Amino acid sequence: MNSSIAIDGPAGSGKSTITELVSRRLGLFHVDSGAFYRTITYYLIEQGIDFNDEIKVLNAINCDLLEVIPGDGVFKILLNGKDVSDKIRTREITKAVSPVSAIGCVRDKVNKIFRRLSSEYNIIMEGRDIGTIVLPNAEHKFYLNASVDERAKRRRLELLEKGEEFTFEEIRLDIQNRDHYDSTRKIAPLKKAADADEIDTTSMSVEEVVEDIVGRIKKSE
Ligand code: CDP
Repeated sequence: MNSSIAIDGPAGSGKSTITELVSRRLGLFHVDSGAFYRTITYYLIEQGIDFNDEIKVLNAINCDLLEVIPGDGVFKILLNGKDVSDKIRTREITKAVSPVSAIGCVRDKVNKIFRRLSSEYNIIMEGRDIGTIVLPNAEHKFYLNASVDERAKRRRLELLEKGEEFTFEEIRLDIQNRDHYDSTRKIAPLKKAADADEIDTTSMSVEEVVEDIVGRIKKSE
């Protein structure tokens, strides 16, 4: 059986950065589940498909839309053969991704891909429902969190580095809205799995969080 680690948490809790570093330390494939939802969101917006019409969404995604190519410890996601990874982290996509990822047929589509990846590779997967729904039998589960102010500060810097400038208040409100949407939706809400270790990263450096997680994993081996 392949090994799997689940990392969940809200926006800006440090999941992506930490998962990337832990994956390299432990030689696991990093699966960014949010990137799959973001890629589908990008596609629906590009095609002008109304998210509220589930039949239209189902028809639009009911084909070999996404291809997953294993690379150096990560998976490249191709949308109809094209790499759109540099287009899926804009504020526009970020605002639309929560309603799209709350659609049942969208979740079914990506969960099928995740099940296949977890049966073929040793993975560490980050997201919102990984410890609860996608990998309920993961060997290790972590739930990262941080204060909303700290998370907004981190996200603002991240967007600034990409040339997108928004006020702290705008980003803070976006994050609060998304947290609320993600944690109150009916299907697969953002939730700490009962058997996950929770880590509050508010006043921790990236290195400290990585050491903490790697230490806990090694200790239990
Ligand atoms: O990086 P950040 O935490 O801002 O976002 P992300 O991990 O890329 O996820 C973007 C959105 O996709 C989340 O706000 C959720 O609405 C959705 N998502 C989900 O529903 N389930 C997952 N396993 C991962 C992401």
